[in-house]
Amino acid sequence: MGLQKLGNRRVAIVKGVRTPFVKAGTFFGELTALDLGRIVVGELVQRSEIDPDEIDSCLFGQVIPTLTATSIAREVVIAAGLPRKIECHTVVRACATSIQAITDAALHIATGQSEVVIAGGTESMSDPPIYTSRSLAHALLASSRAKNIREKIKPFQKLSPKDLIPVPPAIAEYSTGQTMGDSAEKMAKENGITRREQDQISLASHHNAARAWKEGFFNGHVFHVNVPPRFDKVADHDNIVREDTSLDALSQLKPVFDRKYGSVTAGNSSPLTDGAAAVLMMSEERARALKLEPLGFVRQFAYAAVDPAEQLLQGPAVAAPLALDRAGMKLGDFDRVEMHEAFAAQIASNLQAFASADYAKKLGRAAPLGEVDRGKLNLNGGSIALGHPFAATGARLVTQALEELKRAKKNTVLCTVCAAGGLGAALVLERN
Ligand SMILES: CC(C)(COP(=O)(O)OP(=O)(O)OC[C@H]1O[C@@H](n2cnc3c(N)ncnc32)[C@H](O)[C@@H]1OP(=O)(O)O)[C@@H](O)C(=O)NCCC(=O)NCCS
Repeated sequence: MGLQKLGNRRVAIVKGVRTPFVKAGTFFGELTALDLGRIVVGELVQRSEIDPDEIDSCLFGQVIPTLTATSIAREVVIAAGLPRKIECHTVVRACATSIQAITDAALHIATGQSEVVIAGGTESMSDPPIYTSRSLAHALLASSRAKNIREKIKPFQKLSPKDLIPVPPAIAEYSTGQTMGDSAEKMAKENGITRREQDQISLASHHNAARAWKEGFFNGHVFHVNVPPRFDKVADHDNIVREDTSLDALSQLKPVFDRKYGSVTAGNSSPLTDGAAAVLMMSEERARALKLEPLGFVRQFAYAAVDPAEQLLQGPAVAAPLALDRAGMKLGDFDRVEMHEAFAAQIASNLQAFASADYAKKLGRAAPLGEVDRGKLNLNGGSIALGHPFAATGARLVTQALEELKRAKKNTVLCTVCAAGGLGAALVLERN
């Protein structure tokens, strides 16, 4: 299949920035996702030196919603002090949320619906919504409708002490009840992924990220945050990266999700993270007219899904072949591959499926995509070492992918992300 175009206009990504990604409960522990979104969007606009009046749309997401600001895209634009005429739309696609924001923006631009768009995502795992039990919620509602004190008190008299226990959100599938970690364990076992292989993937993630920080790779697009409201702390680096980790240290960690027979540990999982990331996108013509140098272009993309009850995080193995077909490309054409690291077991499973003739057959394809050259994969670290603020990860990955092409003077990159629900996203980007 040859290249299918997105629309009549070529879509440029002009700039990408992000906050440092930090472990939940550390630097950004007192901030909300809205705070982080406002900060990243403000920085993006300043650094790209675009007149805010040129921006016509903002597509932004958050996976675990802030219940008081559910239209996060709109709130981010208003809180950042940008013109209120900017049209906004909140997107959610679990861990591929800001990939969704970017591909929605790409379609809007390619088809002439928009000219200049901000796309991205924000997440605070330090500030998740804590729910009440349903019994307490019903009692509160009934009480709020009551006309006198006696009636207001009555609904609470039926509650038991356990109804007062708060309910935190679970990182679990609604349809199966399985956590992401359980699913990673299942994939490790079913695909024969060893503990050692997982720890090696994690080690590479940390060492690559640490080297990239040392070499200044992140300096141009990860900005320092003077943390409000007191501005007495500065977040100036990703604080999950461990330069000094080793296979030996990783191998000592106890499995977390299946304590007895498991292989998924805190060391080979992506951690709970706070952060935000955003990109500025526009038509190629508009970028040229504004004398902005594009970082790269969106060539094609695809979304696909697997049964969440089977191997939940195998989405990239299904989405990538579709994206490659639409882009008219083969795996060997790519200079780089950026794959979101939810868990090392998921990375190993996806790479295995990419290369598997059986998996290709299952998808009804004549041949597998092929082996991913590890020398082209996540060369500046991935979500295990850098962290994974769910809605921000896609925009982090896209910016990092394009910055890597620029650094290495290369042209094409395949970006893939697995997401809850068995979803997978794949995005083909090019520099020239
Ligand atoms: C796996 C998980 C439960 C671990 O949480 P945690 O226990 O708070 O993790 P910590 O960072 O405290 O690490 C636990 C221990 O491992 C150690 N450790 C973690 N990473 C390490 C590494 N790379 N090298 C050496 N030691 C490491 C820590 O130092 C800590 O040791 P300590 O107990 O002696 O202090 C949590 O990160 C999680 O839920 N991750 C999955 C998130 C998820 O589902 N994401 C969705 C993906 S799509």
